[in-house]
Amino acid sequence: MADAREQHRRHRATDPVPAAQHYFTPEPAVPSAPRRVELVLPDTRFDLETDRGVFSPNRIDAGTKLLLLEDPLRDELSPGGPGREPASRTFVDLGCGYGAIALTLARRHPDATIWAVDVNERALALCRANAAALGLANVVVGREDELPAAGATGAVSAVYSNPPIRVGKAALQGLLDRWAARLAPGGRLLLVVRRDLGAESLERWLAERGWAPARLAARAGYRVLQARPCPSEAP
Ligand SMILES: C[S@@+](CC[C@H](N)C(=O)[O-])C[C@H]1O[C@@H](n2cnc3c(N)ncnc32)[C@H](O)[C@@H]1O
Repeated sequence: MADAREQHRRHRATDPVPAAQHYFTPEPAVPSAPRRVELVLPDTRFDLETDRGVFSPNRIDAGTKLLLLEDPLRDELSPGGPGREPASRTFVDLGCGYGAIALTLARRHPDATIWAVDVNERALALCRANAAALGLANVVVGREDELPAAGATGAVSAVYSNPPIRVGKAALQGLLDRWAARLAPGGRLLLVVRRDLGAESLERWLAERGWAPARLAARAGYRVLQARPCPSEAP
């Protein structure tokens, strides 16, 4: 929590938009106004509860939907799919918001555990409520410091994220570094970023780290990027 508050404080010092209005504020000040949005994908659909004070409350974000459509693990891990088993069946939705990515993964991989992580308490409560309403018991929702095994390295097979670009480059890179260190050998980052919010500079940074970024999709102003922080150890 200290990290999120520090991120929030630093942002307030440099951004003209009041920090309390940002989707990554730990406790949104904007009054609650619950509503529902529909997520429709070729393999699943569900309604999700959303609210003011969280990211994209009125509709599923187009980048989020693109990441879910282009998710390479959907086919690789489907019965009869070509993929190798990942070393662990733990996936992370980093910056889960109200849960579109985490809940889709939970439904696609009922035998996996999905960690849904955020700093925004309203988003976490929505994600928890949405998982319960959909009967998805394989989702563990919490802040980074609340997840029991989150400190372990090698615990995670993939980190999915529509990342919080607006926290700033240094904070974002620190976040990705921290979660990349928790990947199992051969694990990957799967990210969606808007081109006009720095997809290409993020891609360059991933390459500089030696994480072999691959562009899985480039559509409607978004890039879906895959990076492998420990490629040489792939199982
Ligand atoms: C672009 S939004 C994506 C939300 C959701 N995954 C979706 O696709 O609708 C990024 C999310 O990252 C969260 N976030 C910001 N800083 C974070 C941090 N340090 N750790 C985890 N999540 C963070 C924000 O609160 C926000 O919910």
